[in-house]
Amino acid sequence: MSETNTNVMHTLDSEDPLNRYRDLFFHGNSDLIYLDGNSLGRLPRATMNHMRSIVADQWGDDLIRGWGKHWMGLQSKVGNKIAKLIGADEGEVIVADSTTINLYRLALAAMLYQKQHHRTRIVTDNLNFPSDVYVFEGITDIIKGSRVDIIPSADNISGPVNDLSKALDDHTALLSLSHTVFKSGYTYDMTEITAQAHDAGALILWDLSHSVGALPVDLKKSRADLAVGCCYKYLNGGPGAPAFLYVRKELQQKLSNPTTGWFSQNKMFEMELEYDPAATIRRFTSGTPPVLAVSAIEPSLDIFLEVGMDAIRKKSLGLTDLFIGLFDQHLAQLGFELNSPRKHKYRGSHISVGHEEGWRINQSLIQEMNVLPDFRPPNNIRFGFTPLYTSYVDVYTAVMRLRQVVTEKLYEKYSEEKSEVT
Ligand SMILES: Cc1ncc(COP(=O)(O)O)c(C=O)c1O
Repeated sequence: MSETNTNVMHTLDSEDPLNRYRDLFFHGNSDLIYLDGNSLGRLPRATMNHMRSIVADQWGDDLIRGWGKHWMGLQSKVGNKIAKLIGADEGEVIVADSTTINLYRLALAAMLYQKQHHRTRIVTDNLNFPSDVYVFEGITDIIKGSRVDIIPSADNISGPVNDLSKALDDHTALLSLSHTVFKSGYTYDMTEITAQAHDAGALILWDLSHSVGALPVDLKKSRADLAVGCCYKYLNGGPGAPAFLYVRKELQQKLSNPTTGWFSQNKMFEMELEYDPAATIRRFTSGTPPVLAVSAIEPSLDIFLEVGMDAIRKKSLGLTDLFIGLFDQHLAQLGFELNSPRKHKYRGSHISVGHEEGWRINQSLIQEMNVLPDFRPPNNIRFGFTPLYTSYVDVYTAVMRLRQVVTEKLYEKYSEEKSEVT
């Protein structure tokens, strides 16, 4: 790593207004360059103290009284904080279950509603997360006559915007897409696509898993109907953190939750057998929430609310611009392909680079180079840039190590066999 370039990177870091947030996160191994915060965010130091207090004071001391004192409104309290990051109003977001379960309940609710209007098609793209597609296919087993149409991307990087628009017709009930797609990081124009769905009479359901905490999202401005998203990636809520769901206010009373339970019941402690759904967003939940896991999401959200999504986006683009510039300079001639959009408008906060030896190169990065990205088939190494704790020095050093792995053929000693988790 040349001294001049290192100095430039240190200057970029010292001038970065977000640099001071890096130490708010736990860095067990301070030499590790962690570029997988798009899969599992780092642990905020505040979460450690917060959890000690939740466990000792709330669970330990309050015991069952904890429900009345702290926990009944917790899913909405945390949901309302997430709402501020995605342009939703108070009372439109709640934390519950996993992204997959939330997607199932909102997609099925939308399909049951649209069935009354003789609309039975779900439209999605082949860049969507596989779990989402499995959910849609599962729904077609339940709703007679329904089907899923998966619109292919021409290059497996960019969303098939025109073909999606052509695919929407009088029978389309629901258009559902990942706002930022998991492999290439391509980000849809939410306002444009939502308007297309509405023009065709369809509802739209966005999966925000790779957008929330990564870039500004404005559900209200784009008039989105439904959304789900994950809290363990950019939001740093911890492994397996519960997810969130969003239902636009006007739709909340029109849609019925297909996964009813006592937590979606209006006066749940009256224990009546007759079901009367809650008037609030709680009507889209089911049963007892994992209180400790929901609590663990909150400290990180407070950091996001302090920093603001515009500052996060500015730095994210700074980091990905640097990575792409270094890619052109050092990696393109080594057999790497950039499998992510170059245009800011369509760029999320992670970048995929393909290489025919992608798997073994990634193993070398992890096992001997102290750089930790992840791998997505067929041959993509995926680098996640998390503005709260990724530095410009990290980006530069990671690219230099990646180059070294290939020029010195360090990857050759690793097996081609894939491990269970990639
Ligand atoms: C875009 C997207 N949607 C859905 C999921 C599934 O989330 P969960 O495991 O919380 O159901 C993931 C998981 O990584 C994802 O990346």
